[in-house]
Amino acid sequence: MDRMKGKVVLVTGAGSGIGKASAILLAKEGAKVVLTDIQTDTLNTTVSEIEAFQGEAIGIKLNVSDEEEWIATIQKAVGTFGTINVLVNSAGISSQFDTTEEWKRLLNINLTGSYLGMKQVIPIMKQDGGSIVNIASLAGLVGGGFNGYTASKGGIRSISRAAAVDYAKDKIRVNSIYPGLIITPMTEGILYHNVLKQKFEEKTPLPRFGTPEDIAFGVLYLASEESSFVTGTELVIDGGTTAS
Ligand SMILES: NC(=O)c1ccc[n+]([C@@H]2O[C@H](COP(=O)([O-])OP(=O)(O)OC[C@H]3O[C@@H](n4cnc5c(N)ncnc54)[C@H](O)[C@@H]3O)[C@@H](O)[C@H]2O)c1
Repeated sequence: MDRMKGKVVLVTGAGSGIGKASAILLAKEGAKVVLTDIQTDTLNTTVSEIEAFQGEAIGIKLNVSDEEEWIATIQKAVGTFGTINVLVNSAGISSQFDTTEEWKRLLNINLTGSYLGMKQVIPIMKQDGGSIVNIASLAGLVGGGFNGYTASKGGIRSISRAAAVDYAKDKIRVNSIYPGLIITPMTEGILYHNVLKQKFEEKTPLPRFGTPEDIAFGVLYLASEESSFVTGTELVIDGGTTAS
């Protein structure tokens, strides 16, 4: 219950799916959690769920692709809890469309959004060290999907490794997570699409799809001191997909 005691964590995309499950688990483990999302209704729901078990949380509306909003969010977070020890970049979008406009939108939210969070939080983490956990995707590791989503997730992989090396001397660890198919509002439509569902089932050796909590446990490990010698790593949580 206290693997994150004394730590301040900022989570993006905390209103839904993987970001929400991670924020709740980290709060249950004693972290003070700064929840952010572009959608305030779902964000406020997560805050209430954490307060219901006496967890400590504040919610701040943040569009991750807006640097000014990042600056204001971090000021408010530090003003409330004193520092930021952990950043979890989970906010993201996927897309059905394959246009140049959509390519730019995906890179802007998924990749630039993660970059801006890292850029703004690193100066604070330099005081005391810290842990950054970036949610990438199998799309950033393996082939298939010539589009902006793949590019954004491959970019997250590259900047995570680069920052891990550049900021190791400051005791800032940077790791990335590669989820397989996790059932969240982003992906649940697949369950109602027989052909797609079967395709994913065939690609997943373990006989189920992932849950947001499967990823949250990986986030908890990388956020906590238990992984204090782990940086630049790429944690695949995919039911065996990339192994097969
Ligand atoms: N679900 C999967 O199968 C899966 C697989 C691999 C990677 N991922 C990645 O995991 C992360 C979380 O996805 P999820 O499945 O939980 O999706 P989700 O749709 O349930 O949650 C994403 C959250 O990000 C927020 N968001 C979207 N645009 C934003 C913006 N501009 N600024 C701030 N917040 C914004 C949304 O409001 C939402 O709350 C994403 O980066 C996604 O690419 C998901």
